Amino acid sequence: MSTHIGAQSGAIAPVVLMPGDPLRARWIAETFLDDARCYTEVRGMYGFTGTWRGRPVSVQGSGMGQPSLAIYAHELFSEYDVQRVIRVGSCGAMTERVAVRDIVIASGACTDSSMNRIRFEGLDYAPVADFGLLRAAYDAAQGAAGDAAVHVGLIYSSDSFYPARPELSARLVDHGVLAVEMEASALYTIAAGFGRQALVVCTVSDHLVTGEQTSALEREQTFGAMVEIALTAGLDG
Ligand code: HPA
Repeated sequence: MSTHIGAQSGAIAPVVLMPGDPLRARWIAETFLDDARCYTEVRGMYGFTGTWRGRPVSVQGSGMGQPSLAIYAHELFSEYDVQRVIRVGSCGAMTERVAVRDIVIASGACTDSSMNRIRFEGLDYAPVADFGLLRAAYDAAQGAAGDAAVHVGLIYSSDSFYPARPELSARLVDHGVLAVEMEASALYTIAAGFGRQALVVCTVSDHLVTGEQTSALEREQTFGAMVEIALTAGLDG
C-alpha cells in the first residue's frame, strides 16, 4: 500500500495506462482487459490489473490536473516499480491544423505550472515523451486510428481549465503547440526523474478556435481507438 493507492505489492503491472477519469479506468478494464481485478478504491481513484493479449497491464485513474496526476505517478514509480505509464486523455485543439476526434501524441509538453519551476529552481526543463513509446504509438496509430488524423507535436499542460488570459495561447500556437490538456508536463518530468518511460496520447474532445465539441458516443469511440494504440505501444513498444 502507498499513501494514495491501496494495492498490495506486486498487484500493479509494469505497464500502466492512466486516464484522468477513474470511471474511464473501469471502462478500459471492463472493455479491453481479461480477468481485470480492482486493486484500489482509495478516494474513488480506481485502479485495475488484468491482461491484454495474455500480458499483464494495469489501468490507474489520475484525477484532473498536474498535482493530482503527480501523486499517482510518483507512487506508481516509487512504491510499485512501474516501468511505463501511458496517459490516455482528452485535449482541446488550439489550432485549426487539428480537428475534433483527431489523436494527438505529445512529443513534449509546455506548461504554466509552477511545479517544475520549483523543482528546477528557475531553470526551464523541457518535459518530453519517451521516444521508443512515441514511435511505437505512432506506428500503432497508423492501423488503429481509423478516419482520425494522428498528430505528433507539442501540447500545453495548463493548470487552469478556465484560463484567466486565454489570449496567451495564441503565442503558444505560433510556436507550434497543438492542443491543451492538464497533466502531461508533470508525467513526463516525474517519469524522467525516476528513469522510467512515459507517453501521453490524447483525443481531441473540443476545439478552442471553432467551439466544436464531440458527442458522448464519439468520445467513447475515439477513446477506444486511443486505448488500442496505447496498449499496443505499452506492451509491444
Ligand atoms: N482545456 C484543458 N484541458 C482540456 C481541454 C481544455 O479545453 N479539453 C480537454 N482537456
